[in-house]
Amino acid sequence: MFPWTLAVLCVLCAVTSASEKCTVPADQRSLVTKLQSTMESYIVPQSPPNPSILIALNLAGAQDSKTEKLLVAQIKERIIKEGTATMTSGEVALYVLALLSSCEDPKHVTAHISLVEVLKLKTEEELIHLSSHGKPYTTFYQLGLDTLALCLEGVDVNDAAVSLAKMALAKDFSMDTGAMATLALTCVHNRLVKAKQSRILAAVQEALNTLHQQILRAVETNTVNIYSLGLALQALSVTSTSYPSGEWSCSQTLTKVFNEISQGTFNNPMAAAQILPSLVGKTYLNVNRLGCFPDKITVEYTIINYLRGQHFMYTIFVTVPKGSVLLAVLQAADQANPQYFSYKTEQTSWGLMIVSINYCAANANDKTYWKFYNGTKPLDQGVESYIPANNEHIMAEFSKY
Ligand SMILES: *[C@@H]1O[C@H](CO)[C@@H](O)[C@H](O)[C@H]1NC(C)=O
Repeated sequence: MFPWTLAVLCVLCAVTSASEKCTVPADQRSLVTKLQSTMESYIVPQSPPNPSILIALNLAGAQDSKTEKLLVAQIKERIIKEGTATMTSGEVALYVLALLSSCEDPKHVTAHISLVEVLKLKTEEELIHLSSHGKPYTTFYQLGLDTLALCLEGVDVNDAAVSLAKMALAKDFSMDTGAMATLALTCVHNRLVKAKQSRILAAVQEALNTLHQQILRAVETNTVNIYSLGLALQALSVTSTSYPSGEWSCSQTLTKVFNEISQGTFNNPMAAAQILPSLVGKTYLNVNRLGCFPDKITVEYTIINYLRGQHFMYTIFVTVPKGSVLLAVLQAADQANPQYFSYKTEQTSWGLMIVSINYCAANANDKTYWKFYNGTKPLDQGVESYIPANNEHIMAEFSKY
């Protein structure tokens, strides 16, 4: 029934206005699924990490969670092994969006790598270069991507937004740049409205209006490169409700896209990744709202003392925000059941130490201490640095050294 509703809507949108959702009619749906499968088939363990494909996959609804997991693993491995120093700001931004789309926290790729912090610095460099040279260190397209990713992560990007808005009014952006700037400025616009901030709102709105008109004109007159059409459609879909236009026919544009798909134009996985989101009515603004569980993880926590005094073993399952350090698990357990899971800490030159759990205290003369495990593996980090993963089993065993 759902696809029928869409089909009816799209007939209407052809005769009335572009403000209706512009998505695929029911009888063409299989073409989209096929395109997605083709794209997924390119992902193999040896392939280089591809954040664009991961984003497209998640926006379209991953058909195969193995492919999604593989892509996430490839992305993380690249970041950890090669670092972020040689990556451009836009690459980092794409990685942030890709991780977000898979419900991963880009602030904690590892305990020590926050891609969001890296992106803040690289965006700052872009802006400094822009103010001294009149152009960003890389490109306006990348600055748009940076602004979008940071905005979705809740970072204040007003400076970048003002720069983008000014440039959008001063010069003609290419289609891709204009569309990316539209997505970024829409994110900022929505946040400003929500926070009841008006200082830069007018400038952002004016830029969005101008960009929308430019993109619309290009799509109407068929002057958009076929590979830029996906992003153009995303941009139009986020601005068409606030800036309605009676001219553009979404169904005509889609018909053109379908002809191209059946001719194999989008068989290249990157080309497919560019067009897929718009075909299912999604945009890069949606990567943050893909129905991730509200950022919580569950950890099984067991405390054991078979060494001294009254022996005990207790287990509890606690839920903590994703990215929390182990100490948060101890706190949650204490809060849920203080009778067994109370603990004491001491600040030492090694960092915070757990000196007592369930009234069983470490003792230097006796050479006893609380040893922590992830499953059966001893932890090599303290409770303030170690970040447990979802469904992990953390064990604390009273031990001797
Ligand atoms: C904990 O151990 C499991 C199984 O060995 C491993 O997959 C996981 O990455 C470990 N967790 C952390 C945060 O290192």
